[in-house]
Amino acid sequence: MILVLCLGIESSCDETALALVRDGTLVDAILASQADVHAIFGGVVPELAAREHYRFIGPLYDRLMSRNELTPTELDVIAVARGPGLLGSLLVGIAFAKALALASEARFIGVNHLHAHLLAVGLQETIPWPCLGLLVSGGHTEIYLMENFTRFTRLGRSLDDAAGEAIDKIAKLLGLQYPGGARLDALARRGRADPKLFPRPYLDNDSLDFSFSGLKTAVATQLARDARPLENIALNKVSQLLCDVCASVNLAVVEILCGKVERALDRFPGIRTLILAGGVAANSLLRARAARLMEERAGWLLLPPPHLCTDNGAMIAYAGELLARHGFGHDLDMEAIPRGVGVPDDLRQYG
Ligand code: KG4
Ligand code: ZN
Repeated sequence: MILVLCLGIESSCDETALALVRDGTLVDAILASQADVHAIFGGVVPELAAREHYRFIGPLYDRLMSRNELTPTELDVIAVARGPGLLGSLLVGIAFAKALALASEARFIGVNHLHAHLLAVGLQETIPWPCLGLLVSGGHTEIYLMENFTRFTRLGRSLDDAAGEAIDKIAKLLGLQYPGGARLDALARRGRADPKLFPRPYLDNDSLDFSFSGLKTAVATQLARDARPLENIALNKVSQLLCDVCASVNLAVVEILCGKVERALDRFPGIRTLILAGGVAANSLLRARAARLMEERAGWLLLPPPHLCTDNGAMIAYAGELLARHGFGHDLDMEAIPRGVGVPDDLRQYG
């Protein structure tokens, strides 16, 4: 069977996203973000997330298929994010994907959401194996040794908050709306970073693991100590102090991430390529510092554009199509994998 057209479905957190990939090339993508629904609560509410996915997934599918003049039987592969993620949210996407695969007789495949983040840059350029992957999102901060598109070895992970989670919690302390990562990044660009203001937790060791919860506590302590207002309400604009604090937080996070990357590269001197992935990879300082780091080491940085860093359907469609093209897939009894549980290596090889 020649596998060509893959529909990818992403519903692991708070974006309902679908995309079509044909032979490794993105055809079209559609996305509905629930960020404003959760912003009222200051974080993702799992029950609401699942309901929103349920509300959006059918209409998004219809729109994507009709504007590409496709019928279900023209799909060769149905790929879906199978985890890790919010269980109720994943189940919406997986149930939809299974029903569609059953009706269309397309190959069904569950994709590891984390691997899909790391592979997404393959939509833009050829990935030279082996390489190092830094995945920084709202739920994960992990470093991987990537030997090929199926062999990923995790070298380090966050022991507490993920980088994005810590940034979002700090942004909340600073009065920014959830999810505050992009806003904190924008304000940081207008500020002056004080490299001594905040600590670099868990960097002064030889581990490749991360810890970010201490940074959040340090920011809270600093805010309690400094009575100056962060917002200049009279002028209806943010204060220079807020921009400076954002810049200092940003610098601390980026220095921790880059410090661990350098350590990992030292351990694997044969590896010359770094992939940045996940929502926090959209961060402007991280992108600049990682580029500089790889340039200094005469290596390469593969950097997906920001819309491929945050959760999206294209990364699921791309990974699913790549795996299916090599004969991999799942039976319809494949299970969703909740947050905190490892995704099993249970891909089946079909003829
Ligand atoms: O990968 P993603 O969309 O969802 C998860 O799988 O978690 O990542 C979302 C995270 C959020 O914490 C968000 O605040 C953060 O990525 N983020 C950023 C930026 N854009 C998104 N963090 C820092 N700087 C940004 N520009
Ligand atoms: Zn993600």
